[in-house]
Parts: sequence; C-alpha cells; structure tokens
Amino acid sequence: MKHSLISQFENAGQGQVFRFWDELSPGQQTSLLEEAEEIDMEEIAQLHRSLVLNSQDEHHDFPDLEPAPFIAHPAQGGDSSAWAEARNVGDSALRSGSVAAFVVAGGQGTRLGYDKPKGIYPVTPLKEKSLFQVFAEKIRAAENTYETTIPWFIMASHGNFQDTVDFFESNNHFGLQSGQVHFFRQGRMPAIDLEGKILLSCKSSIAMSPDGHGGSLRALVRSGATKIMEENGIDVLSYFQVDNPLIKVIDPAFIGFHLQSQSGMSSKMIPKAYAEEKVGVFCTQQDKTVVIEYSDLPEDLMHARDESGQLKFLSGSIAIHMLSREFVNQMGGAGSTNTSLPFHRADKKIPTLDDEGNPIEPESPNGVKFEMFVFDALPFSEKTVVIETQRSSDFSPVKNAEGLDSPHTSKEDQMKEFVSWLNTAGEAVATDANGVPLQLIEVSPLFGYDGPSFVKSWNALTEKPDLSQPSYLE
Ligand code: UD1
Repeated sequence: MKHSLISQFENAGQGQVFRFWDELSPGQQTSLLEEAEEIDMEEIAQLHRSLVLNSQDEHHDFPDLEPAPFIAHPAQGGDSSAWAEARNVGDSALRSGSVAAFVVAGGQGTRLGYDKPKGIYPVTPLKEKSLFQVFAEKIRAAENTYETTIPWFIMASHGNFQDTVDFFESNNHFGLQSGQVHFFRQGRMPAIDLEGKILLSCKSSIAMSPDGHGGSLRALVRSGATKIMEENGIDVLSYFQVDNPLIKVIDPAFIGFHLQSQSGMSSKMIPKAYAEEKVGVFCTQQDKTVVIEYSDLPEDLMHARDESGQLKFLSGSIAIHMLSREFVNQMGGAGSTNTSLPFHRADKKIPTLDDEGNPIEPESPNGVKFEMFVFDALPFSEKTVVIETQRSSDFSPVKNAEGLDSPHTSKEDQMKEFVSWLNTAGEAVATDANGVPLQLIEVSPLFGYDGPSFVKSWNALTEKPDLSQPSYLE
C-alpha cells in the first residue's frame, strides 16, 4: 500500500519527490520519508506564489524610511555616565548568573571555501586558534571575572551538527564544562525550481538547506533551549555570529542597556565605513526599528547624506543582539500569539537530477532557497535599543578567503587591538603605518579581554616578554 505521505505529495503536485521510490532500499525509503515529513507543503506553495511568481514583492521601495536612533559610544560623544550605569546593571546581571551566550553557526561558509563547520576555522595570528576556541576562552574569562557560570548555546545545521559536537568533545570543550555547552540543530527548508517543484539532491534525498539564522528563534524553543534557560534562571541571550573573532561575547554595558530599556531584542551598530559596505542598516519604519539588508537598500538611500555630509543611513548592523527569553518564546512559537518571521528568497545553483536520475550540476541558478533573518524579529519587539560600538573592539569578521573581511584582515585587526592594550599599559610596540605590529602578537582572552583586564595581567607579570619577537600572552 502506498504511504499516505506519498499520496499527499502527489496531490500537492509534488509527486516527483518520490519518482525513484522503487529503486530505493528500505533504509533509503525511510530517510526520504523523514525528510518529506519536515516539509509544510502549504507553506512551500505559498512561498512559491509570493516570492517566485510575484517576485516584485521582494523589491520594496521604502517611502517612509528614516535612520534609526542609537545610543552613541562615549568615545563618539556619548554620555559616559549613562554607559557606566548600564555597565553596572550588566555587571549585576552577570554576577547573578542570568546571562547566556548564543552563537549561530549553521551557515555553510561557501565564500570562505571551507568545507568544515566555520567555527573550526583557525583565526588567531600566532596560535591559529579556531573561532570556537576564541569564543570559549572569552566566555571563560567572563566567568572568572563574574564568578559565575555562563551557559553557551550553539546552533548548528543538520549538515555540520555532528562535526561541531565532535570538535568540542575532542578538545574538552576548551576548558568549559560539557554540561554548560548546549548544541542544537536549526530547521531546514527544501529548495524548489522556478515552477515550484521541490528538488531532489539524489534519488533518496531532498535538496534541503538551513532555514537561515532567523530559524534560530523557533529552534531555540523547539530544541528545549528556552526551557533550559528558564530552569537555570537565564533571562537574556547574548547573540552573535560565528564569523567574528573580535566580538565581545559578553559585554556588560550592552546587557545593561538591554535590561534598562526592557527590550525584547537589542542591537549593536557601527558607523558604516563607506556607503556600499555590505552590512544591513538600522532604520525606522512606521515607528518600528528594522534592518534593511545591504542588497535591498535602494542606491539613492545608500548614498544619501545629511547636512553635515555624513551618510544619512549610517548605522551598520554587525549582527550582534541581546535577546530576552520571553521574546524568544514569543517569536519561536511558544507564546500565545502566532508571530512568524518572513522568508527571503535566494536564487542558487542547486545540484539535482534529471528525470532519468542523471546528476545535473547547473552553471547558473536553477532554483530557489528560502531563509529567515533574525533581524526581522526587531519590529516585533515592543521596545528595542540600538547602541553604538567600536569596530576596532567588536567587529572584524572572516567571510571571504581573500581581500576584505578575510582571515588576513581579521588577524591584523586582532593584533591592532592587542597593540592598543599594550599601549594602554604604557608599552610601546613597533608597528607599520597601519598600526599592525611588526612581530606577531597574540593575547589569550584569559590573559586580557579588554584594556583594563589586560593592564591588570600585564602589571602582574614578573617578566615582560620581548615584543621584538613573536609573543603570546596567556
Ligand atoms: C550578515 C547579515 C548582515 C550583517 C553582516 C555582519 C544576513 C542576511 N546579513 O551578512 O546584515 O551586516 O552579517 O557580519 O544575515 N547562519 C546560520 N544558519 C543559516 C544561515 C546563516 O546559523 O541558515 C549563520 C552563519 O553561520 C553566520 C551568520 O549566520 O554565523 C551570518 O550568515 P551569513 O550568510 O554569512 O551573513 P552575511 O551575508 O555575512
């Protein structure tokens, strides 16, 4: 007898998914059915209608878009007493153990040309520590400072989940307790062709891909992460992307501003370096804070300037947020209201099969993937706050193999920050014209994670290293 799911797919015009059914082993049949079960065919049909057939829906014009307000950093004229107050609030929250870290690490790292989970990528200048190790050590440093435990939630995709877990296990969780590191999988979506037909990647498997970092909100709920948070008295999540080794994983001032404003979701911005910089932009639309992705921001707005000649839409999103547990529950499907994030369309080259089962390796996009973006949750947050941060101490992502935002630029930026700490400690360091030290320098987060913590450890050293040689401070 035919499986009822197969009939459902046939009735929805998606019978092609099972066209090689009779050639499959029982094990392959089971796994194909399991994938098919994850698919909401009504949702796929609706996305095909709205994002493929009526694709002008994706090309908005923004008649009422204004730059979003933000709290300026003290170094840029912000109110330093307000920052000190926010830091105190954040310090208390950390000491009381109500903060956890959360990294989204489900992306595919295609631009970097790396086929392992991106968090395994070596990024530090001297020791070649992985991104995951850097984050783990920053968490440990904060734990030491606040005498607390900071749980860490890690979202991976189906494709990189096991490699991610194995990497942590074989490295003893980089000194964290295994019980404080919580891994979970994000959801996935099938790719479709332009006619709306779900594509196969091989005879026994559907072309599924991660549902975007916006999928993290429902995955946090579905995986039980928000339950774990509740049981452990965790109220806020410090959200960051896996590609940015410079990030302050735990930032008391940011936590403080988030808590003081009773925000569901808060964000950090940096002034864009130039108009075309590939970062989303914080804007206000009908009194709501939104992020307009760089690819969606119309050219005239991208280049618009205010009276002082500064970019009008200046606030670059560096994908660093604070999320309240309650807000995650609301957005992730555990709340009383059914709020869901919109999907975005990405046209991709999707390896698939022809009707005879021969593989097709397309040379131009032959299908569409669907992703949710976490920043689309911002307008759902009744209150929200955007604070300014400094690029030099929070943002230098590794996205491309070479050029901008590459391992090379990120290593230089890490070393420039280490030099600035050494300078604060009164130590002169020989650098080139860009401030990059002439010899490799690396500072373990456990030695120093910002100016003050570094100076404290530096002053306690009985023997100072010779900085005219490659130096590692740990
Ligand atoms: C992203 C932001 C952009 C921001 C920039 C800052 C989007 C669409 N754009 O750009 O606004 O200015 O970062 O660096 O996000 N990920 C998952 N699961 C997925 C997809 C992605 O966990 O299904 C994770 C990745 O592992 C990575 C992060 O999300 O940590 C960012 O994804 P990526 O696609 O590289 O975004 P960008 O285009 O770099």
